[in-house]
Amino acid sequence: MSDTQSLYLETLGCQMNALDSELAFGSLTGEGYRLTDDMTTASLVILNTCSVRQHAENKVYSRLGQLKHTRRQHPDRIVAVIGCMAERDGDGLLDKAPLVDILCGPSELHRLPALVRSVRDSRSRAIALSGRLRERSTDTVPTAGHDDLEALDSGRSFAMETHVSMPRSLGRHQAYVRITRGCNKYCTFCVVPYTRGPEVHRPPDRIVEEVGRLAGNGVIEVTLLGQTINHYCHEGPDGRTDFARLLRRVHDEVPELPRLRFVTSFPRDFTDEALVAMAESPRICRYLHIPAQSGSNTQLRRMNRGYTVEQYTALLDRARSFMPDISIAGDMIVGFSGETEDDFRQSCELLRRARYKNCFIFKYSPRPGTAADDRLPDDVPDEVKRRRNNDLLAIQAEINQANHRALLGRTLEVLVEGPSKSAIKAQESEQSRGEEIDTSRNGDLRNQLVGRTRGDQIVVFEGSRELVGALVQVEVTALTPYTLHGRLGETVKPATTPAESSLALPVLGGSLQ
Ligand code: SAH
Ligand code: F3S
Repeated sequence: MSDTQSLYLETLGCQMNALDSELAFGSLTGEGYRLTDDMTTASLVILNTCSVRQHAENKVYSRLGQLKHTRRQHPDRIVAVIGCMAERDGDGLLDKAPLVDILCGPSELHRLPALVRSVRDSRSRAIALSGRLRERSTDTVPTAGHDDLEALDSGRSFAMETHVSMPRSLGRHQAYVRITRGCNKYCTFCVVPYTRGPEVHRPPDRIVEEVGRLAGNGVIEVTLLGQTINHYCHEGPDGRTDFARLLRRVHDEVPELPRLRFVTSFPRDFTDEALVAMAESPRICRYLHIPAQSGSNTQLRRMNRGYTVEQYTALLDRARSFMPDISIAGDMIVGFSGETEDDFRQSCELLRRARYKNCFIFKYSPRPGTAADDRLPDDVPDEVKRRRNNDLLAIQAEINQANHRALLGRTLEVLVEGPSKSAIKAQESEQSRGEEIDTSRNGDLRNQLVGRTRGDQIVVFEGSRELVGALVQVEVTALTPYTLHGRLGETVKPATTPAESSLALPVLGGSLQ
């Protein structure tokens, strides 16, 4: 590996970004780039950014600050800011961090290798954005349409080397597959429709083929991605494929894939057909992520969400009537413009009623360019947002504890993702300080593994690292609100290589959790 071709790639934000990073990395391996985990010495630094909350943007500025300090030692280093923040605030970024060489929005990522080449050759800045900044862009590469963007997804590298060497939020036996890009919902608080553009649905044949190839390469679990995934709809020569039909096609046409899941669902227009497709397809995980955002109808209106709390809870009831064991996750925003104590009390009520498997809770963060930022004041003081955030977290922790208690003693199917955080920490401290590990209290932490159930519960247990990538049975023996602890039971053959593991696995029937 040449030092001049080392790539540091950091990903912030959602699963879409994780997938974009993997695809971008795949496209750059053709340019000879290899990954490094040392940002300061890399010849190419790519920050794949998120704009959903200010906090995520601040992290990028802190990375750019670090790069500025080591600039003199590495004058040839190329710095690329890609993703939502590049699209949302390209101008601001260049003003605050002139060391940035490349800006590339999420809809232009197929152009990244050409942008890198152009900067390498000319040492002048290269910008590819699709939105409002287009007019002022110093574009060096011709603008491309959606077909070219499709090329990014369908040009995915299935070589295990690319798939495995990517620093991933997922285990190497898991993969994301995009089915829809962008969003048309324009929730008043959200920047995504501006950064990722309007909804575009990928052709079903391409999706089925991609999932099939991943499964053929040893992937055990595929998560289909879309901002409002249940709105998937594609008109083609074979007629109309809606989300229910797509789910059935992927499930039925890729029978060797043990687990299929999808995120994120929008609470409106979730059809019975999609729920029945889930209920009748044993390898589709009975898991839904359906953000509510608020339990107050007044707030839902101000957010432009297009449903009422009653319609939302009716959807949860409907999903549970088709699949009583379904695991449901949610998102809530506290302190959105105008949120009164009574609105907040209704969000608490919704949380108690929804009994989510987990809920992501966010303090409202005004995003420049959104309707809420233009029209609705950010009028809930930060300390009130913080208190409401903590109150919801406390309610959800109680619900988690009760949900987890109900699983005590049960044996669940777990996909082993890797060593647990404690195992990694124990190993690191052993290596760096030669520290003896105390195995008397918690067993040997170095052997701790972490995995997920079909319902997305996190399970920690002791076992050999050879089990990474295998589906195993784990009996739940202890719990906290956030983690289940268990004992390894009967094991499906360990996965030694990704490719072997898929061959060794039987197709599983029934949803264990
Ligand atoms: N449908 C998308 C939602 C993207 S944003 C998906 O795939 O998850 C993820 C979550 O961030 C939203 O559900 C919302 O709860 C939260 N969020 C979005 N904009 C926000 C803002 N301005 N302030 C605080 N939280 C926000
Ligand atoms: Fe954002 Fe609402 Fe779409 S939260 S991603 S605008 S569904």
